[in-house]
Amino acid sequence: MTTIAVTAASGQLGRLVVDALLQRGVAPASIVAAVRTPTAVEDLAARGVQVREADYTKPETLKAAFEGVDRVLLISSSAVGQRAAQHENAIAAAEEAGVELLAYTSVLQADTTTMQLAAEHQETERRLADATVPVALLRNGWYVENYTGQLEVALEHGVAGSAGDGRLSPATRRDFAEAAAAVLTGDGHEGATYELGGDEAVTMAEIAALIGQATGRDVAYVDLPVEAYTEVLSNAGLPAPVDAIIADSSAAVGRGELHTDSGDLSRLIGRPTTPVAEGIREAVAAAGPVAS
Ligand SMILES: NC(=O)c1ccc[n+]([C@@H]2O[C@H](COP(=O)([O-])OP(=O)(O)OC[C@H]3O[C@@H](n4cnc5c(N)ncnc54)[C@H](OP(=O)(O)O)[C@@H]3O)[C@@H](O)[C@H]2O)c1
Repeated sequence: MTTIAVTAASGQLGRLVVDALLQRGVAPASIVAAVRTPTAVEDLAARGVQVREADYTKPETLKAAFEGVDRVLLISSSAVGQRAAQHENAIAAAEEAGVELLAYTSVLQADTTTMQLAAEHQETERRLADATVPVALLRNGWYVENYTGQLEVALEHGVAGSAGDGRLSPATRRDFAEAAAAVLTGDGHEGATYELGGDEAVTMAEIAALIGQATGRDVAYVDLPVEAYTEVLSNAGLPAPVDAIIADSSAAVGRGELHTDSGDLSRLIGRPTTPVAEGIREAVAAAGPVAS
């Protein structure tokens, strides 16, 4: 029986990966939710999933969490600035456990992108190139939900960015999670690199219009020079350098760095990706009265 560990299983993507593994018929006892805070996933334990402490900053917890595990999904940490060192701890633990597959959620076009936010993924990919265990790279594009996370702001001020009329290929977290589950349960993914994005390429103006349709309101896209967008983000309370890093990520959309037409995502999940309009509608509905 293959045992599969999912790190950061308490996060939004991680939870969906565990769901997708269960949907694929993996027995709960064969799944390890490897999390920093075990109390955050008591619901998973109640469903029979193994819960083990796995804090990226505590190598000993990672070693214990991966004991007896065959396959690991390393979900990239949310601690921007500390991620490469944290991922190194997880990779070393997976090597020590001698796993048969280590999949890592990287970023689209990691080998060529100039987006600042990608630097730690690039460092992790360089480390993975020397890993002593087989690796699969899941280079995720942007989540559709990135654009619905701050609906009040979008409804009041429009959607701001520095992407111009650049196109991106966003996909729902659920689609990315299903792709990860397909790799974790499938064969022949060792050494593979997947460029994962939705089937549709959309502009920011189209995303704003779709948010408008889903909420019944007028939502415009407001394009700004990177410096001006950085200032907007700073005024909204984002600390430096996060403000500039986020603005740079939007400019990266304008450079085409968050776009792919590889078809890898729909191939892995065995169906077309969820339409962007549907993903936005679902996220707006989940947000509840904010959009009413
Ligand atoms: N593709 C995209 O559009 C996009 C957008 C945003 C982020 N990301 C990346 O994708 C990852 C997953 O996305 P998400 O939406 O699931 O993010 P999320 O909901 O914010 O979850 C982040 C996860 O990282 C865990 N984490 C943080 N520090 C940790 C540590 N020291 N040790 C172990 N776990 C730690 C958190 O654990 P706790 O529950 O204990 O806090 C949480 O489970 C993010 O972490 C980020 O690297 C991608």
